[in-house]
Amino acid sequence: MRAYTPETITDAVIEQMSTTPDPRLKEIMESAVRHLHAFAREVNLTPAEWIKGIEFMTKVGQMCTPARQEFILLSDTIGLSALVNIMHDKTKVEEATSASLLGPFFRENTPKFESGAQIARGAEGKEVVLFGRITSAKGEPLPGAQLTVWQTAADGRYDIQTDASTMDCRGIFNADAEGRYLLRTVRPLGYYIPLDGPVGGMVQAQRRHGMRPAHIHFLIGAPGYRELTTALYVAGDDHLEDDVVFGASGDLVAEIKTSDPACPIKGLPSIQFDFSLSRESAADKLTGRVGADPGQITAGDVTTEKPYGSPPGVTAEAEAKKGGILAGLFRGR
Ligand code: BEZ
Ligand code: FE
Repeated sequence: MRAYTPETITDAVIEQMSTTPDPRLKEIMESAVRHLHAFAREVNLTPAEWIKGIEFMTKVGQMCTPARQEFILLSDTIGLSALVNIMHDKTKVEEATSASLLGPFFRENTPKFESGAQIARGAEGKEVVLFGRITSAKGEPLPGAQLTVWQTAADGRYDIQTDASTMDCRGIFNADAEGRYLLRTVRPLGYYIPLDGPVGGMVQAQRRHGMRPAHIHFLIGAPGYRELTTALYVAGDDHLEDDVVFGASGDLVAEIKTSDPACPIKGLPSIQFDFSLSRESAADKLTGRVGADPGQITAGDVTTEKPYGSPPGVTAEAEAKKGGILAGLFRGR
């Protein structure tokens, strides 16, 4: 009977898994095992650290509800979501507007609005006009293209964090015959990602600030084109370079102009941004949406759930005082 060593156990596991009939599952699991074992060897993982890791992942799972996906938040904060999105974005068949994270606050059943409508219904704040065109990669207008927009209210929270039974600061618009879109909103604020769970504990144990720069999310689609999940980041924000979820990128930074003569609604600050979509490839039809509504993963009704996330004014420092599940693991290193 053979005795496993740190050097031989990896191949033994891979050999046993080699009966996997699905070739992609086989490839992914083999690679995952190789990298996990290499990681354990590299850091010389102890049994105490291994169980801490298991406890942490258990807490992450226990934090998930129909309205909250703590595993996606974990993936976001370790840059895995951004990496997967960047790789996926490179597979589009034409140069077009780049993708950004969907984030956990997208919601199905967003209300539809007429062009020019204000999406911030309950929220006070400084009004901003968003306008521009939705085109193909060649610059041809995409009449009727559907643009879904969502963002924080003027208090820096998404509707679902305040009251999951209401919809605010989100809407669906259709481009006109020339591919133009036009809407009004309020100036978004940068905000802390939800820090009240195990992922927040990890972020504070790492002494990270936990903030996203001010941004506005978009999901844009037109028949025959790859759906674009993206966001615009407000120029001048302090956290453009150190977004806690690595979503901000230079080509998606947009300036709020105080009085742009091109703006169709006069007297208001505005952002002009043209979005372009790549043609949809056969492979795109199979890859599915980038990110997902948490309610679709955990199969439930977000409107019956308690609001998601940290109250406004919660800081990483305040959360740090409470101590996170991984804090002990990182302390003293
Ligand atoms: C967001 O942009 O809404 C977001 C993205 C990732 C994690 C948390 C929030
Ligand atoms: Fe967001």
